[in-house]
Amino acid sequence: MSPFLLTRTLPEDATDAALRADVLQGLTHSPKTLPPKWFYDAHGSELFEKITELPEYYPTRAEREILIARAGEIATATGARTLVELGSGSSEKTRSLLKALADVHTYVPVDVSESALTQAGHALMEEHPGLDVHALIADFTGGLAMPGTPGPRLVAFLGGTIGNLLPAERAAFLASVRALLSPGDALLLGTDLVKDESVLVAAYDDAAGVTAAFNKNVLTVVNRELGADFDPDAFDHVALWDTQHEWIEMRLRSRTAQTVKIPALDLAVHFADGEELRTEISAKFREEGVRGELAAAGFALTHWWTDEEGRFALSLSRAG
Ligand code: AVJ
Repeated sequence: MSPFLLTRTLPEDATDAALRADVLQGLTHSPKTLPPKWFYDAHGSELFEKITELPEYYPTRAEREILIARAGEIATATGARTLVELGSGSSEKTRSLLKALADVHTYVPVDVSESALTQAGHALMEEHPGLDVHALIADFTGGLAMPGTPGPRLVAFLGGTIGNLLPAERAAFLASVRALLSPGDALLLGTDLVKDESVLVAAYDDAAGVTAAFNKNVLTVVNRELGADFDPDAFDHVALWDTQHEWIEMRLRSRTAQTVKIPALDLAVHFADGEELRTEISAKFREEGVRGELAAAGFALTHWWTDEEGRFALSLSRAG
């Protein structure tokens, strides 16, 4: 039996169709929006890797600190035999977890990027001889199908990426994860925490301008994929804290009145001087909120761990 299996649940052309639908929907309604998943072409993924190393961007380091400190407890508490990782990317975060999870023989990385899955899968199999890797090319927000894998299962969704979803989307997403699992399976969730506004805003508006370049990269993606003529220099990067919703919002603010052509959609989009396009929300959480959202989806929170500075949390919960 081959220890590396790759299953595509996303049709080859699904990405293109989804981008067209998102751009058409997002740029023809007011206020204008684009979903954050379109940041991550090869260049955008590189920029994100750079962001994780910036002095201002603490979440990656804080989560790594917790994972290293708690991997043993996670292994004991779950007894997991299968690790499923949603949005696995390079699987860098998984390494300390897999080392500690002695009973895990099956790793199921789920990502939209086939190249990331193949690379990460092969690297992990070299580090863990005997590990079965069943990679899934899938958009985890679009409903998942799980290959038959031995239980108990641990689903990991790390990095704070759940914060990119609006509250109703989070509820639907958590319910869809619960639907994949059996009672006794577990969910390990990374959530960034509410903190001082200046710390939060700096994390999304760094001095070196990497986040600004990352934000504008979505325009470059639309230019390349849909033939649009966005001038990234004609927009300013904006990061602001929404006190009411407790989320960071990234926007692109038009520096002038301008019209952008998007030939693939046969569309011209007008921006007023100063008009803003929302490109991301990144929600920040509190323990009671996370516990409540998990409970509503059928998970009971059993562990809540933060880094020393209390900036980021990992929670472990059990499917009821
Ligand atoms: C990868 C979604 C967790 O929201 O902090 C980083 C993406 N955006 N800087 C986040 C991001 C701007 C990041 N996540």
